[in-house]
This record gives sequence, structure tokens and C-alpha cells, in this order.
Amino acid sequence: MSHLLILGGTTEANALARAVAETGLRATYSYAGRVEAPRDQPIPMRVGGFGGVTGLVDYIHSNNVTHLVNATHPFAAQMSANACAACAKTGVPLAALTRPAWQPVDGDNWRHVPDIAAAVAALEGASQRVFLAVGRMHLDDFAAQPQHDYLLRLVDAPTDPLPLPKAQVVVSRGPFTKERDKALMEQHKTQLVVSKNAGGTGARAKLDAAHDLGLPVLMIDRPVLPPRTELATPADVLRWLRHSGVNLGV
Ligand SMILES: NC(=O)c1ccc[n+]([C@@H]2O[C@H](COP(=O)([O-])OP(=O)(O)OC[C@H]3O[C@@H](n4cnc5c(N)ncnc54)[C@H](OP(=O)(O)O)[C@@H]3O)[C@@H](O)[C@H]2O)c1
Repeated sequence: MSHLLILGGTTEANALARAVAETGLRATYSYAGRVEAPRDQPIPMRVGGFGGVTGLVDYIHSNNVTHLVNATHPFAAQMSANACAACAKTGVPLAALTRPAWQPVDGDNWRHVPDIAAAVAALEGASQRVFLAVGRMHLDDFAAQPQHDYLLRLVDAPTDPLPLPKAQVVVSRGPFTKERDKALMEQHKTQLVVSKNAGGTGARAKLDAAHDLGLPVLMIDRPVLPPRTELATPADVLRWLRHSGVNLGV
């Protein structure tokens, strides 16, 4: 019997879970456990790290996983590398469900940096009002630039003191709209937006808002991931599963 493991935590993984649930295929959705209340899924869920490549190999064996789809965020480089390594070791077919990177359009004022460290370095200088849209995990890195007035949007309210002395927190998990993001940035008097190049529609609103408001964006480019089969939509994944010998019964 086939068993699909979906590495999730993204809008794309959620859409895939819905599509897979309709087929009746045995599948499990895996969350890292980064947020307090992960969204419910229409397929069984597990939460928490596997314990590196060895742990993922053990999980694959003990749960008879036959196919793996990595639908994690494009910045989840460690999990993506572990998935490639574990599938190479076990012979389990692997595909990634990915989304194209955002591209600037006419009138956008983006400065590209290769990674978080370069984004931190680029914030050297006089105090500005910065919408820091990089998620909770990297806030400590920006403690090296404490002079700015930061606007942070987080999925959960912080429980520990923030590493940034001047920060306003908005708790929201989206989806976001351009109009509401414009209002948020106007109210904060944002002068600069810092964003990862996540791609997709869910988090694009802040870039469209920055465009309309004429604000510069410090764009953190994606990490380079190991080569793998990349698919664009849940329908592509279902086709890939069929070609890999899975009987989807539809
Ligand atoms: N990075 C972002 O900007 C971002 C944004 C939105 C959502 N997310 C989601 O948040 C999760 C963590 O992202 P990250 O950037 O911290 O990843 P990461 O740095 O690549 O992963 C670090 C470790 O977290 C565990 N992990 C990550 N994703 C997992 C998953 N789906 N299921 C089980 N364990 C997982 C693995 O632990 P073990 O080594 O112990 O297995 C992995 O080695 C991902 O699922 C991602 O899709 C990330």
C-alpha cells in the first residue's frame, strides 16, 4: 500500500493535502511545530522534527512511506536537504512542490541580498522605520541593528522579550491584502520593507503595498537547494504519483 509523506507548513502543502484527501490515498502531513496551533488538515498530521537525516530515514522505514513530497517553504533549506538525503538513502521517490520566486515589476525599488546575514549588514546606518517581514526565527540576527523602529508581523504573540528594543508587533497569520498592508505601513510610517523572496500569493501583499507607497524593499534571495524534481501544482503532484505507480482510484 502506498503512503505519501508531505513535508508541509505552507499554503501549497495545504492545497496538496486537500487534493490528496479527495483521492483516498494514505498520506501524512508533517509540521515542524513552529507555531502554537497548526492548521488542521484533512489527512493525518504529525508535528515536530524527525531528528535529522537518520531520523527521517527511520520514520520512512517504520511508517512504510513510499513517496515523499517536500512542500516546505523555499527558505526551509535544512529540511529540504535532509529530504533529498533521506530519499537517496531509502530509494523513496521525492518531488518538491515549489512556487516561483517573486520578480520586480516596473516601479519596484528592490535591493537584492543573498541571505539573512547580508540583510542585517545592509541595515547598518541611521535609524529607520523598517517593516521586518522575515518571521520569528530570524529576529535574533537583527538584534545587531537595534537602532531601527521595527514593525513585526508574527503568527503567534511573542512569549519571550523581543531581541529588538524598538519593535511594534502585529499578530496575524494572513492571508494579507494590499490595501490592509498599505494601511498598516502608513500607520507605522514604514520607510523600508525587508522580505524573504518567498514567492506565492499569500505574502505578496506587502510588496504590492510597498510598490504603491513608493517604498524600497530589501529582498533576501532564496537559498540554493539540492537538485530535485520540482512540480508547480497539486495536480502535477497527483500526475507524478500516478506515473510513479500509485493507484489513486480516481
Ligand atoms: N523559513 C521560512 O521562512 C518559513 C516560512 C513559512 C513557513 N515555514 C515552514 O516552517 C517550517 C520550518 O521552517 P525552517 O525554515 O525552520 O526549516 P529548516 O531550517 O529547513 O528546518 C530545520 C529543522 O526543522 C525541522 N523541520 C522543518 N520542516 C519540517 C516539517 N515540515 N516537518 C517536520 N520537521 C520539519 C527539521 O528538523 P529535524 O532535522 O529534526 O527533522 C529540520 O531539520 C517548515 O515546515 C516550513 O515549510 C518556513
